[in-house]
Amino acid sequence: MRQSLVVGNWKMNGSAASIQSLLEGIKQGIATVNKTAVGVCPPYVYLSQVSTSLAGTPVACGVQNVSEQDSGAYTGEIAVSMLKDFGCRYVIVGHSERRNIYGETDEVVAKKFTKTQAGGLIPILCVGELLEEREAGNTENVVQRQLDAVLNSSGVAALSNAVIAYEPVWAIGTGKTASPQQAQDVHAFIRQHIAKQDAAIAAKVQILYGGSMKGSNAAELIAMADVDGGLIGGAALNAEEFLTICRAGD
Ligand code: 13P
Repeated sequence: MRQSLVVGNWKMNGSAASIQSLLEGIKQGIATVNKTAVGVCPPYVYLSQVSTSLAGTPVACGVQNVSEQDSGAYTGEIAVSMLKDFGCRYVIVGHSERRNIYGETDEVVAKKFTKTQAGGLIPILCVGELLEEREAGNTENVVQRQLDAVLNSSGVAALSNAVIAYEPVWAIGTGKTASPQQAQDVHAFIRQHIAKQDAAIAAKVQILYGGSMKGSNAAELIAMADVDGGLIGGAALNAEEFLTICRAGD
């Protein structure tokens, strides 16, 4: 039985003050979450504040991106080694906003995945199709291409220490959620694709759903056989809402 995991992706939101009150709210309510593992990914500049505040709690800290380089003349970038100074556990790699707004290719995402693992952190690899790709019947092709970029460069064994997030782009920030069956179909496809290379790893890897997941729909999504939790954007900015989603994973 896979443990559920719910991770908040705060994206480019918040201030020192609003993040402090969000953290207080999460810490106050986290005892109401029983079995689900929980993490939050703040903007980099608040990482120190967040990791200090969460020290000693069951809530893990992560980030939303990382450089594919080790160090050096890469203005504006953050290396995996730096994240380790803050007790980070998770790194979101290949979020659709990184792919589609900042032009990250499958190859760059694969390098970020490799670097994250080499540095001892856990990548949360995001995959997902655009609306036009879904409408053209290409969802599985797109998701497979995104997965294969990582499988081909890191090998299937790397997935024994990674998380996958299926985030249909048309559901992100739109209020339009994939139906539980739509999510399940793609999650099952992802698991079957991995199983072609290693059935044991496929059975073990956590596959999160992301895209307008909220307190009111989390339970029905996570109830699906291959949905192991959520990667949450907007609803993770409210402590009560986020905790409701976390409890849905119990
Ligand atoms: P929303 O929950 O705001 O749709 O965002 C999902 C997401 O992109 C999480 O990474």
